[in-house]
Amino acid sequence: MKKQNHIEAALLFCAVSILISAIAHTESAKAATPLKPVIMASQVAKMVGAQIDYEDVKTGLVTARIDAQQEQRAQEWSHSLGHCGSFESLESLEPFATRIARASEHPQLFTRLHQQENENQKYLSIPFRPASLTWSQDIQNAIDQVNPKEVQNLVQWISSFPTRYNRGANANVPVDALVAKLNQMIAGSKLPVKVDTIAHKSTQQKSVRVHIDGFDRPSEIIVFGAHFDSISNPSDQAPGADDNASGSANLLEALRIILMQAQPERSLEFFWYAGEESGLLGSAEIAESYMNAQKDVVAVLQLDMTLYPGEGQFVIGNVEDYTSSWLWDYFRSMAQVYLKARLVSDQCGYACSDHASWYRRGYSTLLPFEATTNTMNHNLHTIRDVINSKSDFQHSTVFARIPVVMAMDLGNSTNRKPF
Ligand code: BES
Ligand code: ZN
Repeated sequence: MKKQNHIEAALLFCAVSILISAIAHTESAKAATPLKPVIMASQVAKMVGAQIDYEDVKTGLVTARIDAQQEQRAQEWSHSLGHCGSFESLESLEPFATRIARASEHPQLFTRLHQQENENQKYLSIPFRPASLTWSQDIQNAIDQVNPKEVQNLVQWISSFPTRYNRGANANVPVDALVAKLNQMIAGSKLPVKVDTIAHKSTQQKSVRVHIDGFDRPSEIIVFGAHFDSISNPSDQAPGADDNASGSANLLEALRIILMQAQPERSLEFFWYAGEESGLLGSAEIAESYMNAQKDVVAVLQLDMTLYPGEGQFVIGNVEDYTSSWLWDYFRSMAQVYLKARLVSDQCGYACSDHASWYRRGYSTLLPFEATTNTMNHNLHTIRDVINSKSDFQHSTVFARIPVVMAMDLGNSTNRKPF
């Protein structure tokens, strides 16, 4: 879509929204809607009329409170501005959420984000940058076994649930089915592996975790994540084939291959997160608890939308905001050596997916994407996000190879962020 169209659509949307709010939002109606504490882009917060508590000038983000309508409009607004990121919900972060009025606490929410940005810059200014990998026959053999047909079957299976919406009455039906599948998958494995679910404060939906214990440095963890939930406005049918049955399926296929390999030196964790579409709910709670426990997460890979080759087959968007520059280098090297894919740099805005939960808490993140945000699948969040003639399982399968390479290379090295 052209920028001009975005702006026109945005202006029209704004005028209509103001008119509707003027008619519909009486003071009593406003008071009845519970406000959700969030972090979001300042521009978007202002556009939706959020109650802003604190503005972080350096990042252009704010802490604010929004109601249900503003939550929906925030997504539409960010998309009309040509990027995706919407908001990270702070509702589970007690006591923060209950002490929201204490202005002095807000700046602390951005401290690690500032550190991350400084480290990104510092890394880029090193003359001979250290993050790269070299080819190995074992890794090549493993990635050759990643199978597009398996990816297709998995996307078909995951998108066949009527919805995976985290606020729906059946929010855990697909989650329980995923747990059953994972238990079957690990049954024959020789590796020390376990499956568990993580209950959340902010949503009824559970996240799912698979942990493979490292034999040499088990406290060092590599995280592979995808959000398992889906959303569709205003319909109650949300197939979410691309967003994000695709990334969820890629992780399952990668796990199938990794379970057949030797035990890695470092631990590996796979997450299928709950409630991403409602503000990164599951991942925010998980990353918060890992940070509080000072867990040593070396790298976090997020897969979210891998099925639609909007820039061409095997052209991958590397999202370079709220992700780590040493991992971009690592990924560039991987794309050349193993993936035979071309990377294009892109940005998606704060909180466009679960990597932001980890990044804000000081962890290194990487977000490979199906295309660029301009050329991505625009059927996301609708009943039309199904498998169709544009779905490309060869393209999607490239993304399933990424965790396999990371598990076998980074999982057996001492490579980590240099600062
Ligand atoms: N898969 C989408 C968007 C996306 C775009 C992810 C580019 C990764 C790269 C994601 O599930 C989504 O819809 N995110 C929301 C924000 C969320 C916090 C409600 C968005 O971008 O509006
Ligand atoms: Zn998504």
